[in-house]
Amino acid sequence: MPGRGSREKQFRTAFRRFLSFTANQSPASIPPMRTVRVSLGDRSYNIHVGNGLLPRLGEYCRQSKLGERCAVITDSNVAPHYADRTIRALRQGGFVPKVVTIVAGEGSKSLKAVAECYDQLAAHRLERRSFVIALGGGVVGDLAGYVAATYLRGISLVQVPTTLLSQVDSSVGGKVGINLKSGKNLVGAFHQPKVVICDLDTLATLPTREYRAGFGEVIKYGLIKDAELFCRLEKELGDLLNRNPSKLINVVARCCAIKAEIVAADEMENGLRKILNFGHTIGHAIETVFGYDKYLHGEAISIGQVAAAHLSARLTELEPKSVSRLRELLERAGLPVSVNLSTKQRDALFDAMRLDKKVTAGEVKFVLASRIGEVVWDRKASDAEIRGALDAVKPAA
Ligand code: GLY
Repeated sequence: MPGRGSREKQFRTAFRRFLSFTANQSPASIPPMRTVRVSLGDRSYNIHVGNGLLPRLGEYCRQSKLGERCAVITDSNVAPHYADRTIRALRQGGFVPKVVTIVAGEGSKSLKAVAECYDQLAAHRLERRSFVIALGGGVVGDLAGYVAATYLRGISLVQVPTTLLSQVDSSVGGKVGINLKSGKNLVGAFHQPKVVICDLDTLATLPTREYRAGFGEVIKYGLIKDAELFCRLEKELGDLLNRNPSKLINVVARCCAIKAEIVAADEMENGLRKILNFGHTIGHAIETVFGYDKYLHGEAISIGQVAAAHLSARLTELEPKSVSRLRELLERAGLPVSVNLSTKQRDALFDAMRLDKKVTAGEVKFVLASRIGEVVWDRKASDAEIRGALDAVKPAA
């Protein structure tokens, strides 16, 4: 048994080590990190948000107890910046990765791209314990997630979102899928990732337009669930648009926390999760009508949110002042808030809305805001009311 003197010596040595550790680690030298937990029983997982996380990807995959072989699915925009770093981090963690690069753009959310990925996974001999890493934005996350959900009846998935939009929304919650000609995300699955790594450093290479598009989803979180976040965005938008890291980490983590709470309460979107679709019924239809090329997702849902806010002012107690605040914030973020539709495009928009996944018994239902930070869902609107909302988002003559 060690005596009192020996215990004191051990304590003094440990204390000296602690002092030298703290002296060498100024707070500035440890990049801050936030971890958000998505609580889904034995499918629970962490979302890590911070700077300098990609080089530690191997560590996070090890913690998730994944098999050795893996495929990094990425696209032709992201691969030149981050594929090598990702491969290095995975090899350091003892993994055997292969990169699968798809053509960047919404066009790759297709059955053809899925089939190409399957072939590459088979060529790399991925097996049941192997896993897929989605390295990129929403398109990559949705496609790679769908591949992971279906290959060998489902293998593990790690999300490494590299756009603001995918960090706050599409990488979290397990929705994966692809588009058909007749509509967006019509084929898909719920397949939760094992871990989500949001390395804010990857936003540095994001083109301005793509970065700004992320605010379509960020602002949505304030509108649907957090009035305080909405006010913070009104105040800090300038810093956020300048990609200020200390402001960004708090906002990204807050959006992820809101989404985590909603997904944990209603993973399969039977009720509450529908609120995440605020602005999406009209937004998705705009994407379909314009062929996924003209508008980025964040831009289309920006217009969709303004239209939904006008509909809300008509059908709930949302004040006109709140509609203006939403429109102004989206506009300040550089997002479109109006759309010019020909009569033919209007008809096509109604057709697209009726094909949306959110339609039940042929009825288009909307998420509507009752005030900033609070929404209701499953609200019906007549064609005339929808037309009125579309008139409200016509560009001023
Ligand atoms: N992006 C909406 C959802 O994940 O439910």
